[in-house]
Amino acid sequence: MTQLPASHAAAIDVAVASLRAGELVIFPTETVYGLGADARDDRAVAKVYAAKGRPQFNPLIVHVADLAAARAIAVFSPAALAVAERFWPGPLTLVLPRRPDSGVSLLATAGLETVAVRVPDHPVAQALLRAFGGPLVAPSANPSGRISPTSAAHAADGLPDIALVLDGGPCAVGLESTIIGFAGDRPVLLRPGGLSRDALETVAGPLERSAPSGRPSAPGQLASHYAPRARLRLNAAAPLPHEAFLNFGPNAAASANPTLNLSPSGDVIEAAANLFAYLRALDSSRASVIAVASIPHHGLGEAINDRLARAAAPRDEAPA
Ligand code: TXA
Ligand code: MG
Repeated sequence: MTQLPASHAAAIDVAVASLRAGELVIFPTETVYGLGADARDDRAVAKVYAAKGRPQFNPLIVHVADLAAARAIAVFSPAALAVAERFWPGPLTLVLPRRPDSGVSLLATAGLETVAVRVPDHPVAQALLRAFGGPLVAPSANPSGRISPTSAAHAADGLPDIALVLDGGPCAVGLESTIIGFAGDRPVLLRPGGLSRDALETVAGPLERSAPSGRPSAPGQLASHYAPRARLRLNAAAPLPHEAFLNFGPNAAASANPTLNLSPSGDVIEAAANLFAYLRALDSSRASVIAVASIPHHGLGEAINDRLARAAAPRDEAPA
């Protein structure tokens, strides 16, 4: 595996050459690191599923450089256009009807009539998409069911067989994008994420929350996802003697055990950016249980609590 600082002059060229050859490249976005492949190349897309050990019914997000490129792939209603114009580039994915002439691999959308698209807000992702000149599928660069990577080292650690990692430093948002779909003109929240409900609702109006069902029409919906090795105990006031502690806010529950505070000042944005890295760090301590302080539900707290609930879910349903 080669890890190239994305600032390296040749980094983008090397990555583009790999992608054109049907290879996979790990690259940074503002949310988490993505495992990128040419979205039009069935074989490359198949390699993504294989590398992640991902169940094939879980479709991928197509990343493009701008709204114009997104409109070549998906059909935008006026409601969809309004949110795209306001929030792209940014941590928002739209699930929209797939254009018949989109050119996107059917494997990438897992046979659905819809396609998930997003325009990432990261200079390296943007440079890569523009130099590549086409759409890239990019699921989070982790084995299926594990914690999403927010640094190049985390990504390389989970997927050591990927030949090239572009290192763009830690991800500013730290949580995957918010995913919305539309029922007619009404927006439906499919996955809470890096763009808060409050921000979205100022443009989109009230968001319905989709009910998770058997087949994940709106995935990340597998009950156990984002799974650390340790068990999680949520809404803990303080850790028990054998537990590591993931704290939040200015409460100084002292412990001799490994402890990290997502945000000593109680800022949910800072907590989101730290969440996956801190879960990983505590997971690599020897504790078999991580106690997690309660996190307020406002702003990005909704997405943080969604990820924590999945990380705490029983494992027998874990996909891989
Ligand atoms: O922030 C992100 O979104 C990151 C970065 C790398 O961009 N990507 C990411 O991708 O989280 P992934 O593959 O880990 O999650 C994509 C989610 C899955 O839960 C998938 O099921 C859902 O998007 N999805 C994709 N296409 C869909 C569709 N047509 N309808 C409903 N959900 C869809
Ligand atoms: Mg993922």
